[in-house]
Amino acid sequence: MRILVTGGAGYIGSHAVKLLGRAGHDVWAYDNLVYGHRAAVPQGRLIEGDLHDRGLLERSLRERNIDAVMHFAAFAAVGESVADPAKYYRNNVVGSLSLLEAMRAADVKKIVFSSTTATYGVPEQVPITEAEKQRPINPYGYTKLVVEQALSDYTHAYGFGYAALRYFNASGASPDGDIGEDHTPETHLIPLVLQTALGQRERITIFGEDYPTPDGTCIRDYVHVDDLGSAHVMALERLAPGVELKLNLGTGRGYSVREVIDSCRKVTGRTINVVIGERRPGDPPELIADASLARRTLGWEPQYTTIDAIVATAWRWHNSHPRGYAV
Ligand SMILES: NC(=O)c1ccc[n+]([C@@H]2O[C@H](COP(=O)([O-])OP(=O)(O)OC[C@H]3O[C@@H](n4cnc5c(N)ncnc54)[C@H](O)[C@@H]3O)[C@@H](O)[C@H]2O)c1
Repeated sequence: MRILVTGGAGYIGSHAVKLLGRAGHDVWAYDNLVYGHRAAVPQGRLIEGDLHDRGLLERSLRERNIDAVMHFAAFAAVGESVADPAKYYRNNVVGSLSLLEAMRAADVKKIVFSSTTATYGVPEQVPITEAEKQRPINPYGYTKLVVEQALSDYTHAYGFGYAALRYFNASGASPDGDIGEDHTPETHLIPLVLQTALGQRERITIFGEDYPTPDGTCIRDYVHVDDLGSAHVMALERLAPGVELKLNLGTGRGYSVREVIDSCRKVTGRTINVVIGERRPGDPPELIADASLARRTLGWEPQYTTIDAIVATAWRWHNSHPRGYAV
């Protein structure tokens, strides 16, 4: 297939580009490089452009005879979305609608969309199934929910077929160590802990140790970035006009912040200093996926099932690229 990957120079998108290329697909990354990295995309495979440039999107789809789109491009920092919601609605919602209109004009109607656990807000039941009510508690989550709804409406009205894949905590790096996570600013736990192991940060802050969990710290479901990529490929293969897939992607196993830090100590053999901070508003104690629907629907089986296995790949990347993609 010929596939356009928006956000293909970003963390998860670049891993998807690599997997798709390896699987023999003709793959193009479309990214404005606001947060992405040129070096994360194979030479000659990057279209430098913005979601808001509908004309360039449409030309890119037509000229390359694109069959399907994977849509990763978005802003994804929860705290920033609270402080500056306009930035998030403009990029994540208006930008996505621009993409959908370009797709409609170019008659490309298959799309896999990066959705998120944040659409569930504070769940009533954990593990979280797709039957859980989607009640986001921040603008970021709302922007993703709005796009899910638009995709559903476009599917019914215009013959689109889509998958909204609701990721839990994306983590790890390509096992070769050639691409990995490089966000500025970094907000994700595993890279922050590994930067502490490298001596780039003095300590890691645990936000709250009085949650109702066994060790008092928050529990999250860490899913390897290549397992996310393989789910995208499987979802794409099932898309056809009128098909709607809404699937959680996680391992179904949660790890606490302390367990993640301990795993990083074990994998790196380094000292990692910890301080305890206040709880952050809006952090649910426990977010774990029930991903059985994805398993049943796609035949998807995550390959990285322990935090140590995930951290080992992340460490290979951070240790060999202490400054990320910067040269
Ligand atoms: N990282 C996670 O744990 C996680 C969890 C759930 C969902 N998601 C979603 O997955 C997707 C990818 O996340 P990530 O961690 O790889 O983020 P990322 O910031 O590394 O990648 C996003 C990419 O999109 C590009 N981009 C943003 N706005 C654009 C625009 N208007 N036009 C063109 N390119 C644009 C950025 O330059 C960047 O390369 C996002 O949609 C995010 O909301 C991520």
